Amino acid sequence: MVDTTIVCTQFEQHYGYSPEIVVRAPGRVNLIGDHTDYNDGFVLPIAIDRTTYIAARPRDDQQVRVVAVDIDDQDAFGLDHIAYSTNHPWSNYVRGVVKEILSEQHHIGGAELLITSDVPRGAGLSSSAALEVAVGYTFVKLYNLEMAHTSLALLAQRAENTFVGVQCGVMDQLISVLGHDGHAVRIDCRDLSNYIVPLYQNTSIVVCNSNMERMLTNSAYNQRREECAEAVRRFKTWYPDIVALRDITPAMFDQHAEALPETVRARARHVVSENARVLRSTTALEQHDVMTFGALMNESHTSLRNDYEVSIPELDILVTSAQQVSGCYGARLTGAGFGGCIVSVVDTNAVESFRQSVAEAYQKATGRDTTIYICRATDGVNQVKG
Ligand code: GLA
Repeated sequence: MVDTTIVCTQFEQHYGYSPEIVVRAPGRVNLIGDHTDYNDGFVLPIAIDRTTYIAARPRDDQQVRVVAVDIDDQDAFGLDHIAYSTNHPWSNYVRGVVKEILSEQHHIGGAELLITSDVPRGAGLSSSAALEVAVGYTFVKLYNLEMAHTSLALLAQRAENTFVGVQCGVMDQLISVLGHDGHAVRIDCRDLSNYIVPLYQNTSIVVCNSNMERMLTNSAYNQRREECAEAVRRFKTWYPDIVALRDITPAMFDQHAEALPETVRARARHVVSENARVLRSTTALEQHDVMTFGALMNESHTSLRNDYEVSIPELDILVTSAQQVSGCYGARLTGAGFGGCIVSVVDTNAVESFRQSVAEAYQKATGRDTTIYICRATDGVNQVKG
């Protein structure tokens, strides 16, 4: 866990005086509803106790200075000319967000920033979204900007889409602002309406990292998006008014599935069924029915593996090993896939045996170590000092 006092000390050591504020923004794990957000669908993530912190102070000029203590690197740029940085790739999340704030005509000046984070990078736990949201919120607080939390999430997503060049949906940024202690958040990615649902008592959210780098994620992700767009074009011939796969019910899908090319059919089947699973799992959570919730998680993994084809053997091994542990209600890959993590809902009394069994099985089957995190659901972005 990052300690606010340490962040302040690091800031002082670097800049020679105290920060005016410290803000935090969490990473996330999605319990169910993957590859639905960019189809205007439903998701059910939690914000996790892995967090990005930024200590900051305004400047009188138009300069932004930023230090990333964890990787011992720093960068500086002027507000009048914000270009993509090839030397400091991490800084593009900062630059992109600042550029978006300016393009919305908000009045800001320069700043001194210090960033530190314990969200594992490249693990699929949304370290990028946590950074973008933290940067955005830092400027909101330093310059008293009028910006709703959901607008901040959309701004952060735009920065990633247009400046960093990753065509992500909006789930990661939204949960980083909407997270709620002890709760999952059901989000409708069409109108951004959302509500919180308390998590099960006596169960733990356990995340296992495959420690497989997510290499082709960007191109494969964009390809999936394109296949969904193609599915929408096809469905429009039967239902001209639809705008996204969200509008296709399971019955509508069944009626026309045969007429779709095989790949498009499989992709659409995943999205349509996954949306239905999010709705059913939210009800299962509300009704304290953990067995049904777990079964839906397992179904989700099968769908992501067979129909959406975003799993890899290492994730399948983790999921199968997890599902075999007594006391594990359900397990699935979480996030974009192609590496990264799986998420399981586990009886708290069984967590230790779960850890051991899964780690052993994974090591035996792949020769690799898994890193296991027990995640607590936390609040979304906020200011912790100043
Ligand atoms: C990544 C993207 C999200 C979402 C997930 C899959 O995490 O950033 O927008 O599409 O993949 O659910």
